[in-house]
Amino acid sequence: MPNPNVTLTAADRSVTLPLVEGSQGPSCVDISSLYRETGHFTFDPGFAATASCKSAITFIDGEKGVLLYRGYPIEQLAERSSFLEVAYLLLEGELPTEAEMTKFEHSVTHHTMMHESLKNFLRGFHYDAHPMAMLCASIASLSAFYHDTLDIQDPDQRRLAAIRLLAKMPTIAAASYRYSIGWPIRYPRNSLGYVDRFLHMMFEVPSEPLELNPVVAEALDLLFILHADHEQNASTSTVRLVGSTGANPYASVAAGIAALWGPAHGGANEAVLKMLTEIGDAKNVGRAIERAKDKQSGFRLMGFGHRVYKNFDPRARIIRAKCHEVLHKLGIHDPLLEVALKLEEAALKDDYFIEHKLYPNVDFYSGIIYKALRIPTEMFTVMFAIARTAGWIAHWIEQHEMPGGRIGRPRQVYVGATPREYVALDKR
Ligand code: ACO
Repeated sequence: MPNPNVTLTAADRSVTLPLVEGSQGPSCVDISSLYRETGHFTFDPGFAATASCKSAITFIDGEKGVLLYRGYPIEQLAERSSFLEVAYLLLEGELPTEAEMTKFEHSVTHHTMMHESLKNFLRGFHYDAHPMAMLCASIASLSAFYHDTLDIQDPDQRRLAAIRLLAKMPTIAAASYRYSIGWPIRYPRNSLGYVDRFLHMMFEVPSEPLELNPVVAEALDLLFILHADHEQNASTSTVRLVGSTGANPYASVAAGIAALWGPAHGGANEAVLKMLTEIGDAKNVGRAIERAKDKQSGFRLMGFGHRVYKNFDPRARIIRAKCHEVLHKLGIHDPLLEVALKLEEAALKDDYFIEHKLYPNVDFYSGIIYKALRIPTEMFTVMFAIARTAGWIAHWIEQHEMPGGRIGRPRQVYVGATPREYVALDKR
């Protein structure tokens, strides 16, 4: 039996701290009494060794490359489920029965319209605004449209907000894109499923009917499943931190979108494609690897490395296989895939990448698939946001339903000036 406590000795004081055990994964030392008992804080920049909450949604074993949504392996969900079913699973904790799925699908389908006034909002943007900027602002603005159902203490209103976010995110995402290229905005078609409806809103033109290739919808659905949740990543932690203040769900999720945008997080898929385009040819791969190893260059291999995975990202394995399949089925020969394969091969053999345990992450191949599906590069992170909405709302609801929630308020190690006297302007 392991000792259920940890004793920490600092100077002349020692304190016994309890261990918190989850259902899987390493136990955590509960340091909530540490400051009170010893007068010390802990210092953990980037929260690399800190669990910020208890959660029953997603489990990752980064050493073994395991990812489970509500206990189900990502490989099984990727092969047998659909994005909307996975969204239900993340939200409700169980796979739906047929009746539950029909009700959920109906509910999502009937909340896909966006308020007409939102179009005015989009029109206010400069034509070349990045769609992530438009998405972030438009989602935050939803709190102004639904201010009468923002009681976060009411479970029904929480569920309604979750459904609205899941339903409207693709509509607003597609509208942002259409606006940026000067195409008329399309209304959601309720006769279509979640992914087909989104593709229709993205690509349908008034002048001719849209023939949707099932390969495209199937690949997109898979990408959405793989991106749906990833426990306490930067954007989800942001949603939870904002949510912990009692902020409404639209404001919380808008903050998550902002966090996702950065190239160290969801912005990596756009950055990967730019990087592969810059490398341009398999013969330049060696130079790119050398640059990535040189800390002075400021260049990193985008799509490589992960805070949690010190082994292959299981999502990257699935996407890699799908990438080959999609390109083959769509008859696309993309030279960037060759560059990506060479880069992966070279990095996996390189001592620096081996020692640093840097493997391709979920974003390394997703950009190549998006490109094959005709999704424009600046929409890549938006695609990630559509999928991650399922996780964000599941976490936002969980944090309000799990007892013991407190406002997130970290401390700091102050390194600024010590107390000093104010000097009048004419004396400085
Ligand atoms: N290329 C080259 N070196 C790298 C890379 C990379 N992609 N990633 C990490 N390293 C090196 C760092 O220089 C550092 O080296 P050192 O210990 O010799 O100083 C070491 O590996 C650890 O790196 P950290 O930045 O401390 O690792 P952290 O866990 O904080 O960061 C992150 C993880 C942000 C994903 C990082 O690997 C990275 O920047 N990758 C590229 C961007 C990317 O692909 N992001 C997507 C992540 S997945 C997602 O959000 C969906």
